[in-house]
Amino acid sequence: MIFYYFLGDFLKWKKIGDILIVDSKFDEDISDNLESIAARHNVKSIIKIDQIEGQKREPTISILYGNETETIHKENGCLFNLDLSKVMWAKGNNNERLRIAKLVGKGETVVDMFAGIGYFSIPIGVHSQAKQIYSIEINPNSYHFLKNNIELNKINEKAEYDRMVPILGDCAVEAPKYSADRVLMGYVKTTHHFLRPAMECVKDGGIIHYHETVPDKLIETRPYERVKQVAFECGEREVEVLNIQKIKRYAPGVEHIVLDARIY
Ligand SMILES: C[S@@+](CC[C@H](N)C(=O)[O-])C[C@H]1O[C@@H](n2cnc3c(N)ncnc32)[C@H](O)[C@@H]1O
Repeated sequence: MIFYYFLGDFLKWKKIGDILIVDSKFDEDISDNLESIAARHNVKSIIKIDQIEGQKREPTISILYGNETETIHKENGCLFNLDLSKVMWAKGNNNERLRIAKLVGKGETVVDMFAGIGYFSIPIGVHSQAKQIYSIEINPNSYHFLKNNIELNKINEKAEYDRMVPILGDCAVEAPKYSADRVLMGYVKTTHHFLRPAMECVKDGGIIHYHETVPDKLIETRPYERVKQVAFECGEREVEVLNIQKIKRYAPGVEHIVLDARIY
C-alpha cells in the first residue's frame, strides 16, 4: 500500500518500501524537519523525484535525507525490489496492477510488452494461474530488478519450468516471437506505435490491454479507433471492446486509461 502524507497545503508524500518520496512542490523551508520526518515514518531516506524522462522512464532525483535509494516495496501481496534513483514507480497504478492479475485465467500465456521491474508481471505471477508470462523490458536497470523480483516472489520456484521469462529487448522486435492469450501494453504517450507488434502477438480471441493518455473528450473514441485501425491493417481482424478503465488523472483534462479489447 502507498501512503500519502499532506503537510501544509501542497506537500504530498508517498512511502515506497522504507523510502519517503516527496513531490516536486517540496518546500525547502521544511528541510530542517527531515530527520524527524524520517524517524516518524520509519524511513532510511527521503528523496524528491525531479523528473522521469525518455522511453526508458529514467528518473532524476535529489536525495534530501539519508543516502540509500534501493528498497523493497510491498504492494498487493507482492514484493518489488527497486532503486528509485534508477527506475520509476508509477503512483496511482496500484489498483490496475491488481485488476489485471485477477483477470488472468488459468493456463493463459501472457506477454507483458513494457514489463519494467515487473509492475504487472509480478502480480500476475503471484495471483494468477497463468501458464507462461513473457516479460519484455528494454531498460537494463529495470531488467535487473525484474529478474530480482521474479526470485524474490519465488515465481519460478513453484513450477517445474520457468513460468515467468524475463527478456531484455525491444518489444517491437520481441513480442511478435510469441503467441499470447493476453498482451499488456502498460506504457503511455507513444503506446499506439507498438500496436502492430501487439497485434502480431495476440491469438484469435485473445485480449490486448492498451494504455493511452487521452483528452477527456476522446476517451470513448480515440483509443478504440487506433486499435481498430491496426487490427484492420493486420489481416482485417475484428475488435471487441470489453472495458475502458480510467487509471488516473495524467494532466488537466487528460486521463490515463486502459482499453481492454478482444481481438478476432
Ligand atoms: C515504467 S513502465 C510503466 C509503468 C507501469 N505501467 C506501472 O504500472 O507502474 C514502462 C516500461 O516500459 C519500458 N519500455 C519502453 N519502451 C520499451 C520497448 N520498446 N520495449 C520494451 N520495454 C520498453 C520502459 O523502459 C519502462 O520500464
